[in-house]
Amino acid sequence: MKAVYQPYYTKSESIVKYMIDMLDVKNGMRILEPCAGDGVFVDALNSKNLNLSIDIFELDPVAIKILRNKYAAFPNLSIHSGDTLTDHRLSSYAKVGGVYDRIIANPPYGAWLDYEKRKKLKKLYPDLYVKESYTLFLYRAIQLLKYNGKLVFIIPDTFLNLHMHTKLRKYLLTHTKIVEILIFPSSFFPNVSFGYARLSIITLEKYVNKTACLSNKFHVILGFKNVDDIGKMQKAGPPYLKTYNFKQKDVYSNLDHALFISDDQNIMNLINNSKKRIGDIASCVTGIYTGYDKKYLRVISHNFANSKRFLLLNPDKICTNYLNNNNLLDGLDGKATFIPVVKGAGKERYIKESKWYIDWSSEAVMHYKKDKKARFQNSHYYFRDGIGVSMVKSNGLKAFLLEKRIFDQSVVGVFPLNQELKYYLLALFNSPTTAKIMNVINPTANNSANYIKKIPFIEPDSSTLQYINERVNLIINKILSGDTNITNIEDELHKAIRDIYGF
Ligand SMILES: C[S@@+](CC[C@H](N)C(=O)[O-])C[C@H]1O[C@@H](n2cnc3c(N)ncnc32)[C@H](O)[C@@H]1O
Repeated sequence: MKAVYQPYYTKSESIVKYMIDMLDVKNGMRILEPCAGDGVFVDALNSKNLNLSIDIFELDPVAIKILRNKYAAFPNLSIHSGDTLTDHRLSSYAKVGGVYDRIIANPPYGAWLDYEKRKKLKKLYPDLYVKESYTLFLYRAIQLLKYNGKLVFIIPDTFLNLHMHTKLRKYLLTHTKIVEILIFPSSFFPNVSFGYARLSIITLEKYVNKTACLSNKFHVILGFKNVDDIGKMQKAGPPYLKTYNFKQKDVYSNLDHALFISDDQNIMNLINNSKKRIGDIASCVTGIYTGYDKKYLRVISHNFANSKRFLLLNPDKICTNYLNNNNLLDGLDGKATFIPVVKGAGKERYIKESKWYIDWSSEAVMHYKKDKKARFQNSHYYFRDGIGVSMVKSNGLKAFLLEKRIFDQSVVGVFPLNQELKYYLLALFNSPTTAKIMNVINPTANNSANYIKKIPFIEPDSSTLQYINERVNLIINKILSGDTNITNIEDELHKAIRDIYGF
């Protein structure tokens, strides 16, 4: 049941205190707590004795029972058992422009939604990415606020950058005045063990006029070392905290309205003003998904990460001359039907060994094409020369030659229109310069084709291109001959890229 309700209760006093302070409640206000859990925010608000009227929503019947018992003696608290996102009464409140003075929440993150519910939500929130529940709560809450009403939400920070939340950002920037955003590690939050890198607390005010919203200034605070730092926010705050100031208009005019945070003005300028990006000079696509990897993939040994749960490949099953087949996209006949597939995991750069194999028999390919879960996507890029970029980003990107192999969805395939740029892109993606850019474009854990496309592209002059090509060539030959000591040559490449990009 946990995955449905996602009940990560707010147990940190510092966080609760900060959020209640930011909410700035006044006597007689009407307040909504849209996903109450055991009522930690309600307790804090009720103890203020400000004659508040609080509507409490909760979906989990067990939590509802606890809330009803706990608050039986408080006529100012109305408890509603139901779904905040679809409740009809709330929808009618949203229709009339909102009724609440204040809303405070720690909504569910990444709650699992069944397909029927997803369909319903898609209808109700056509502009939003419905698989991420917290963004729906935020949007719903803004609709439910009166003009000049305020909300304080604790949510993952992915809404600030991710491509899929572009429309939500546009809505926030044009319908609200953001007051303050804190960003801190999710480990501050007791018992939260999800894949999100960071959490944020956003305070905002709903506002009627778009122009006024866009001229609003707000600030973002980062650098928190422990959860108690948040409790000190109302005073000066510890010296290691960093405050970044923004005008909503500037964020609005950023690429995809994303919030880019960097101390380096050169990076910011390049990201926002670049005339050419990787997406303009190359096709960037994700690869195949079998729908059932355990059945369709094999490994050549069990000596590398994540290989253990896959069957070992019988070498007799490997088809070595598959590239000679004219109808390769229809699969192979005969006994040897396994071919190499490139996956994202691993640290290799420049050259990636074939450790994974995929069943490419006609029957298997038919399955990839027809199965509901499988994705036979971007198939005209399979078996082409290009660069693979690993989707798992830790310490920058990992880029390598695809060498006419098929690649799976954990890899972004980059295929430059001008093949002469192939080695340059390999050097660029593997450089600290690109790592810095990626950290600003998308500081969350994953990268996808959308973010690779946004990397600014600066074309080197022909002598620099030659210099880089020679060095990449050297690295490739070294790795192929078994010599992995490439540090010195790589340093030269990193410097060359730094000289081109300026950082
Ligand atoms: C992250 S917990 C937060 C609880 C509490 N506000 C706190 O901070 O400790 C989210 C709560 O939302 C409830 N919830 C999940 N989906 C909901 C929905 N669609 N409508 C109302 N409540 C929901 C869960 O049962 C859970 O108690």
